[in-house]
Amino acid sequence: RIEQGERVFRLSLTSGQKEFVAGVASPTIGIDAPYLGPTLEMRRGERVRFHIDNNLAEGATVHWHGFELPASADGGPHQLICPGERWSPSFEVRQRASLYWYHSHLHRRAGSQVYAGLAAPIYVRDDQEERLGLPSEYGIDDIPLIVQDRMIDGSGQLIYPSGMQARMMGVRGNRIYVNGTEDAVFDAATGQLRLRLLNGSNARFYDFSLEGGAPMQLIASDGGLLDRPHPVRSLRLAPGERAQIILDLAEGRPLRLVASSPDNMMGMMGGQGRGMMGGGMMGRGNDGDPSGGVFRILDIRPADTARSVRLPAELAPLGVPDPSLAVRTRRFVIDMGMMGGGMSINDAAMDMDVINERVPVGQWEIWEIANASMMAHPFHIHNTQFRVIERNGRAPPPLETGYKDTVVVNPREQVRVLVRFEENTDPDLPYMYHCHILEHEDAGMMGQFVVM
Ligand code: C2O
Ligand code: CU
Ligand code: CU
Repeated sequence: RIEQGERVFRLSLTSGQKEFVAGVASPTIGIDAPYLGPTLEMRRGERVRFHIDNNLAEGATVHWHGFELPASADGGPHQLICPGERWSPSFEVRQRASLYWYHSHLHRRAGSQVYAGLAAPIYVRDDQEERLGLPSEYGIDDIPLIVQDRMIDGSGQLIYPSGMQARMMGVRGNRIYVNGTEDAVFDAATGQLRLRLLNGSNARFYDFSLEGGAPMQLIASDGGLLDRPHPVRSLRLAPGERAQIILDLAEGRPLRLVASSPDNMMGMMGGQGRGMMGGGMMGRGNDGDPSGGVFRILDIRPADTARSVRLPAELAPLGVPDPSLAVRTRRFVIDMGMMGGGMSINDAAMDMDVINERVPVGQWEIWEIANASMMAHPFHIHNTQFRVIERNGRAPPPLETGYKDTVVVNPREQVRVLVRFEENTDPDLPYMYHCHILEHEDAGMMGQFVVM
């Protein structure tokens, strides 16, 4: 059944092959492609309908990360698409313009499916953003960068590590791919380049920067534009998080975007015990960090005709989140148990048959997320874009001043967010909140809530 005015997308989940190393093919999963999938473009306010055919030999789900939508369309573990079946969700695009993404959320197997390639970006556009005249020509001056690490063995094959360490820390690879490409290069024709960064890795955190330390203009977080451009020299993204930056290319010098990998397992592998802010870098005890610990993400070659363009001084009127609006506080404590054997939130592991929280529709709440483990976890909440009020009692950094759907909680830290769920009530069908380290999610660091 297609309602009037719905825009229809037809997608097919397929198995494929990809050469992560030239000449060596590895089995993969993609959406209308051997690996990853098309960038979907939507407009705020429009209705969209999908026909998703699962042509894989296994079940799968497709989750719209960052979207506010009915639970039946969410694509979480309850919306299983069996092999050979079609799933046809529809929803109204209510999100602010930003970079979102869609990916597998299969119960206990999101990690392996996303790793194999079941993930891709979504652009949401809206009038408010378009009025600002930011770079927005897809592939020309506005490009998505899905950053993923993959473990490639000595023969060039993609492998999904499943040892103790991979299960505990999450799977980290020894090579970095951007939109599926290693050592990516972009030939820019304009004086300004907008990069939409998505950490699509299973477990690795990145600190992005420009080689040489030049500033980047941070303009957006998960859920859209910030109040104004914030000049930053480095930008940390955990799995699931997004950010948008604008680079000035008018000087005509080539730029190199690089990333280092912070040690997000302080205390466990003999780190400094100061959490993510500690000085210890380069993943002691990793499954295999690339040498030197600094990865090349993207080489940008500007055109010599590029002209400088001025960014607007103000982007979006966000206002300061007001915690006094909240009618209650809910507390979530993340833990890993001994040796990662007890991945849990509030002492419970994910159970498909248990609703952990019942949240009244339309009321502001404070969700207080505490981390009892010795590793940092990106906490993601479905069906909302929230605001970060404070991190350990202190004001959040620039990236966290805007709308977010995923927020890092460092060891022994507590983060408070202001959240509200609008409409889309269904007392029986839940949404998820979980750690976006996919192996943690798969091991039970996830809970379910209904909006009623
Ligand atoms: Cu990006 Cu519940 O996931
Ligand atoms: Cu999500
Ligand atoms: Cu985690």
